[in-house]
Amino acid sequence: MGFFIFGRHHLSMKKKQIGFELQIFEDGSELSQMEQKLLQQADTARLNAYAPYSNFKVGAAVLMENGEVVIGNNQENAAYPAGLCAERVAIFQAGARFPGVAIKCLAISAGSDGHALSEPAAPCGNCRQSIIEYEQKQTTSIPILLKAPKGPIYKCPSMKDILPLAFNSSFLGDS
Ligand code: THU
Repeated sequence: MGFFIFGRHHLSMKKKQIGFELQIFEDGSELSQMEQKLLQQADTARLNAYAPYSNFKVGAAVLMENGEVVIGNNQENAAYPAGLCAERVAIFQAGARFPGVAIKCLAISAGSDGHALSEPAAPCGNCRQSIIEYEQKQTTSIPILLKAPKGPIYKCPSMKDILPLAFNSSFLGDS
């Protein structure tokens, strides 16, 4: 016979709500000039993506604290896993070209040739992890702007918002 325990009380269990306020803009007009320009640069970068296998094109534009903008787009490969997302193409390039310079803002534009998106696509888990590394390194938040070819624009104040409980270097200890 099985043994079942019903109604067990977790007297010491605590709960912590983790959430954030996603800002949704109907169009770009309410954003700053800087943000609008960065979104345009992400959009332009998207058009140059190399995505012959998925036909899903993504562009990213990284604004650095020194005013430089670094763009990236997804680069696919016939051996599929060898490809890389737009966000990591951009952010790794930013790290390589401007070591020690903080990232001020990241704009991402994603869309498929095949079907229209009704809302912006959010970055994949690997890209979130890669981006949060730079937030931790520079100790300031990186606001993320997301758009599809048409429709609303999303703004996340920080990568921490969309990657809560992230793994980070503190878990690796001192060694
Ligand atoms: N892709 C990105 O570039 N960024 C993301 O955050 C999600 C996915 C790319 C990878 C691949 O080339 C295509 O979109 C379809 O997954």
